[in-house]
Amino acid sequence: MSVLLRGVLIYGEEPATDVLIDDGQIVAIGTDLDAADADVVEAAGQILLPGFVDLHTHLREPGREDTETIETGSAAAALGGYTAVFAMANTSPVADSVVVTDHVWRRGQEVGLVDVHPVGAITVGLAGKQLAEMATMAAGVGKVRLFSDDGHCVDDPLIMRRALEYSSSLGVLIAQHAEEPRLTVGALAHEGPTAARLGLAGWPRAAEESIVARDALLARDAGSRVHICHASTAGTVELLKWARGQGISITAEVTPHHLLLDDSRLETYDAVNKVNPPLREASDVEALRRGLADGTVDCVATDHAPHAEQDKCCEFSQARPGMLGLETALSIVVQTMVEPGLLDWRGVARVMSERPAEIVGLPDQGRPVEVGEIANLTLVDPNASWTVVGKDLASVAHNTPFEAMTLRGRVTTTLLRGRITVRDSAVRTSSEV
Ligand code: DOR
Repeated sequence: MSVLLRGVLIYGEEPATDVLIDDGQIVAIGTDLDAADADVVEAAGQILLPGFVDLHTHLREPGREDTETIETGSAAAALGGYTAVFAMANTSPVADSVVVTDHVWRRGQEVGLVDVHPVGAITVGLAGKQLAEMATMAAGVGKVRLFSDDGHCVDDPLIMRRALEYSSSLGVLIAQHAEEPRLTVGALAHEGPTAARLGLAGWPRAAEESIVARDALLARDAGSRVHICHASTAGTVELLKWARGQGISITAEVTPHHLLLDDSRLETYDAVNKVNPPLREASDVEALRRGLADGTVDCVATDHAPHAEQDKCCEFSQARPGMLGLETALSIVVQTMVEPGLLDWRGVARVMSERPAEIVGLPDQGRPVEVGEIANLTLVDPNASWTVVGKDLASVAHNTPFEAMTLRGRVTTTLLRGRITVRDSAVRTSSEV
């Protein structure tokens, strides 16, 4: 069946127009389109963007289905406007073999709400000692194109060097969780005045920045690309600028929570605010926003990290780090980047869809909204406001740091290859389609 999106603003730009989708593709853009049998979505004043791509999400399957599954995580992703997500390898068992990576891809396709691309582990068991069989994972059904030990840093420089060398011959990308572990032993919060006053052991900026600098040099020498997960400090932004200036192929992502929240949130000792890397200072938040606006930081990635209640509602030191992010990402980007005038809607398309798709080389995502293109699309109502209630989110876990916040800008509709996966901000299961 064809779909007609009526009255949309493509990239937020006038004039309002209709978009006709048939057989998974955009077939016409204009007014008075003939759409006798089309499913009409009335979307006057809504903004049409390419479907979002998340390079960094934790879906917890296999192993921790009590916190998230590929099905619930896919629903959260579709509600957030995503048409493709990359599921991190720190599952149980770890995604360090083609058996696991192919399972993740297949299960995502069965669910059918979003393309779930498996991320392969760089090292066996995320232990940082021995390279995993990257070539086998890349050659599997799941066609792994992104490898990361996220949650752990590949701290051994020789292992990282080999991984980078190997990655360019395979045409895949290495994504680093930049954290020098010797500098963060026992760390619970950003090292600074707040942590000192609260008595929380500090996680210094240098633990991230020293690895970013090192890996930039290793990528240069290996002639490879390297991607930095969840950049969190002003110094990392400066290092990215420097490395680019040297011609080094380095890309980076920032999370919505690092664009909005700072370490003053820790005053309550509520572990919902515990995350790795930690919430930094207001000056870091500002530098990350500016870096994202000027392209030094390439894209937004959620680091969606569901955790069980018992792992969050406990002493700060015992709690697991991580926050939900898929359903709230767009609204946080609106608040931190669009409303202050740092990004327009074309900029949102760039950081949430086009750049992440380019970074991992997805041919059918992050495409221009034009006739002939695959209809992976997201509609945003810029005037809608909604209040976040963790228990109402699609994830199994409820650990959102944005609980009770009223956010502006909401995804109303998502289309995956022309099929409506979300309508009126509710998921449509395949039986409803
Ligand atoms: O806060 C985090 N949570 N940071 C990570 O790097 C891993 C993630 C998780 O898996 O929970």
